[in-house]
Amino acid sequence: MRNYREYFNEKLEEILAQYNTPIWIAEGMQYACLQGGKRIRPQLLFMSLALLGKEIALGLPFALALEMIHSYSLVHDDLPAMDNDEYRRGQLTTHKKFGEANAILIGDALLTNAFSVMVRGSMGKVSSEKILEIVALFSEYAGVDGMIGGQAMDVAYEGKQISYKTLSFIHEHKTGRLLLLPILVACILGDASLEQRKALEIYGRNIGLAFQIKDDILDVEGDFAQMGKAVKSDEKLQKSTYPSIFGLEKSKEMLTESLREARKALEEVFTEEDLQEFLELTEFMEKRTK
Ligand code: IPE
Ligand code: IPE
Ligand code: MG
Ligand code: MG
Ligand code: MG
Repeated sequence: MRNYREYFNEKLEEILAQYNTPIWIAEGMQYACLQGGKRIRPQLLFMSLALLGKEIALGLPFALALEMIHSYSLVHDDLPAMDNDEYRRGQLTTHKKFGEANAILIGDALLTNAFSVMVRGSMGKVSSEKILEIVALFSEYAGVDGMIGGQAMDVAYEGKQISYKTLSFIHEHKTGRLLLLPILVACILGDASLEQRKALEIYGRNIGLAFQIKDDILDVEGDFAQMGKAVKSDEKLQKSTYPSIFGLEKSKEMLTESLREARKALEEVFTEEDLQEFLELTEFMEKRTK
């Protein structure tokens, strides 16, 4: 997994170095993307491709685009009008460093340019039909019926009573969609069978939810120095989170349960030997401290 990360970080640095005007926006794009970041989403794309027996390089342009879109979502999530956070990935948030107007534009640029990164990087290597299908998926999963929809509901429910149904809607959308996306992209690129796709999709949905439950838990009991972002931010904003509704213990049980479901789906279709990386990642999702 460390190898994926090094390979990916090098390519991300290269791709972002192509932008230069205006220089401060280009620098801000690098600032928002290149310092830290666990790279879970690219890793999921590479792992799923490897599981389907494909070269991971085939997924690179899409992994780059996805990390650009994820990073934009963080830049905007931290803005004063949203979560108003001062630290991210161990450094000042993009608006603290570059100013609010520039941070909005830096986020917009990351989102907009992500589409040319994925199309230009895969033209000639992936069929046009597949590229078009993936572009549509990106737009849907990052858009109003995806991550944006979840973010909008997250803000709308600050300080309000929430049902379990709405809370899971928020988590499945604001975070789950961008974790399921790399898996679906890999299924398209890797010509997954219906059975493989179904199993991977159940895995993706469950780890997507689990990832945000863990993020909520870390916001309560995590450590600023390790996470590189503020703790107790949710409490301050009266966010609706798993710990705020169910308490820490029950949230941890729900986290374990989602991860168990995730594992089970894959184990029904793939061999344990092929799943080594997935099992490691699933364990990391439960135990991570950052
Ligand atoms: C943080 O995502 C925001 C959520 C969607 C929970 P990550 O925990 O993947 O953040 P980085 O990319 O590692 O900084
Ligand atoms: C963020 O959820 C989800 C995004 C789409 C960015 P949070 O607001 O809980 O993420 P952090 O804790 O700031 O990373
Ligand atoms: Mg938020
Ligand atoms: Mg936030
Ligand atoms: Mg959080």
